[in-house]
Amino acid sequence: MELSAPIYVAGHRGLVGSALVRRLHSGGYTNLILRTHSELDLTERRAVRELLESERPEYIFLAAAKVGGILANSTHPAEFIGQNLMIQTNIIHEAHRIGVRRLLFLGSSCIYPKHAPQPMKEEHLLTGPLEFTNRPYSVAKIAGIEMCWAYNRQFGTRFLAVMPTNLFGPGDRYDLHDSHVVPALLRKMYEAKVEGAKEVIVWGSGTPRREFLYSADAADACVFLMNLPDDALDGILQDSMPPMVNVGCGKDITIRELAELIADIVGFKGRLVFDLSKPDGTPRKLLDTSRLAALGWMPQTPLRDGLMKAYRDFSENVTKSARPTVVSTELP
Ligand SMILES: NC(=O)c1ccc[n+]([C@@H]2O[C@H](COP(=O)([O-])OP(=O)(O)OC[C@H]3O[C@@H](n4cnc5c(N)ncnc54)[C@H](OP(=O)(O)O)[C@@H]3O)[C@@H](O)[C@H]2O)c1
Repeated sequence: MELSAPIYVAGHRGLVGSALVRRLHSGGYTNLILRTHSELDLTERRAVRELLESERPEYIFLAAAKVGGILANSTHPAEFIGQNLMIQTNIIHEAHRIGVRRLLFLGSSCIYPKHAPQPMKEEHLLTGPLEFTNRPYSVAKIAGIEMCWAYNRQFGTRFLAVMPTNLFGPGDRYDLHDSHVVPALLRKMYEAKVEGAKEVIVWGSGTPRREFLYSADAADACVFLMNLPDDALDGILQDSMPPMVNVGCGKDITIRELAELIADIVGFKGRLVFDLSKPDGTPRKLLDTSRLAALGWMPQTPLRDGLMKAYRDFSENVTKSARPTVVSTELP
């Protein structure tokens, strides 16, 4: 990408989108096209067409989506499939119509089968049943990958899908119903410390293993992939395989280890109590990141450093606003 190229970041106020904007600004990119949700509803095809026809982006990062935890996915399944299908279909199709050079679609590791072998490789796509709770969301994401692949085959576009692992970082959602495990634990530990509580309850046994990546690293990987030389990108965009790349750190930790690390960072000195009546979910979820590593990208932020930065963001921004009293530590 040339530094003056018009680049559209869809969903630029979200966890991933805001990290992308910071990464692009710090990389010297000067011509970002940004619209908030209230300025442009991406489920509206006509509005998407008008934006892309008038602004003519050459590159698109598709980081807008309806995103949430298990509870939100379970209670609003129609929105998770419907809105995501509309957003991504509108942008992918209109991007093709105006002839963008490249598009990067944000998928998710939840597209892989519930019982996929670990670590999960790109070729495990569509090899088994999905986890039921976020199946509508996962199916929408799989449709996005298939659309990128189909448009590449039929129209010769260069649309790539990335599958990030669990992300956390500045601008994460810390609210009652929607938070993932890292922001939920940060908030729980913080509240327990402030209130002088003796214990914090963590859902499940603490034994499931999960992988976490700092959002700035995920954004860096996206920009790296968008900037791949044509021959390297075309090596991934072959007709014979889905155009997708896993984005993770390649290491997992137990939820207990994560909770202990966050307690240490926050300064919560009480006990961690593991609530065995709550579900554990899959024992292990780890991405195989060898495809990304072979292209030459590695994460830069150790987990502890990333968590410290996320906690700083939480302390500076979220604790100044109203504090909820209950959070769940839903496992992603
Ligand atoms: N967070 C993770 O751990 C994670 C992991 C793997 C993959 N991903 C993927 O990364 C992408 C971004 O996730 P995220 O965590 O950054 O989500 P997020 O923080 O919820 O951000 C999503 C953004 O999209 C916007 N948006 C939603 N619906 C819209 C609409 N109809 N029109 C315009 N804008 C709309 C949201 O605006 P409003 O908030 O104003 O609605 C928000 O700014 C998703 O595709 C997700 O699957 C995320």
